Amino acid sequence: MLSKSEGDFMQSDSINVLAKWWLDSSYRVVLTGAGMSTESGLLDFRSPQGLWKGYDPKKIASIQALYANTKEFYEFYRKRLSCLSKAQPNKGHLVLAELQKKRLLNAIITQNIDSLHQKAGAGRVIELHGNLREAKCLSCGQKYPIEILEEKDIPLCKECNGYLKPEVILFGESLPHEALRHAEMETKRSHLFVVIGSSLEVSPANYFPLLARDVGAKLVIINMEPTLMDNQADLVIHAKAGKVLRKLQEIIDQGNSRN
Ligand code: APR
Repeated sequence: MLSKSEGDFMQSDSINVLAKWWLDSSYRVVLTGAGMSTESGLLDFRSPQGLWKGYDPKKIASIQALYANTKEFYEFYRKRLSCLSKAQPNKGHLVLAELQKKRLLNAIITQNIDSLHQKAGAGRVIELHGNLREAKCLSCGQKYPIEILEEKDIPLCKECNGYLKPEVILFGESLPHEALRHAEMETKRSHLFVVIGSSLEVSPANYFPLLARDVGAKLVIINMEPTLMDNQADLVIHAKAGKVLRKLQEIIDQGNSRN
């Protein structure tokens, strides 16, 4: 077992390798998960203290739950909304937005619905699992700012009294075709594909790292805990996203200042 200092040495060595691959690549894509936002104070889902330790997702975050447990469904999403509204982008989000601005990152694919990449200044963000910025009427399609959920226990459409669904992809729903198509296109162009803060347990999001490998990209996984796909990766860094991305930015900036 590596001692902490050896572990740190190994980690900084891995981050140096990541930085070299980053600078050598001509098309970089990241796929982020809930682990990207825990340093902003938001819970992830499958860590020991994750959201799904307190809730059964099928009973609270599925399309069936909206009809069968309507009151609890909206209560759950009001709670999530109140946490998200307090959350600010962390250093990791800011580094990715900065790399994208410097054209050193081509695409951010995210499973997150917290809009923290956008709040950090990221441009194009491909949201595989939708967002918690709007709600849409299931009957007439009328859209509302998500704050409408706070107006009543069971908020209804002002046009037709239909149920309003937050624009997040619920369990049992298919992912938005446009986002899937876009994510696939970016992944197929990637030379470096970096997963940040995801257990990679949910499909089809976990298909993209494999597709990246298939098209010959280097696959890097940055995650606190081992993931299902660590053995498929060219490089695995078990560390906090914010720490790794801060160090990555430092090395890249040093490299650029030398040139
Ligand atoms: N830095 C790096 N990794 C972290 C950090 C951090 N600061 N904090 C947590 N992690 C890791 C955890 O160890 C965990 O393996 O992030 C991973 C998050 O995994 P999940 O909780 O499964 O979240 P995610 O992979 O995004 O889930 C995918 O599942 O329930 C659905 O729609 C939900 O989008 C979500 C999807």
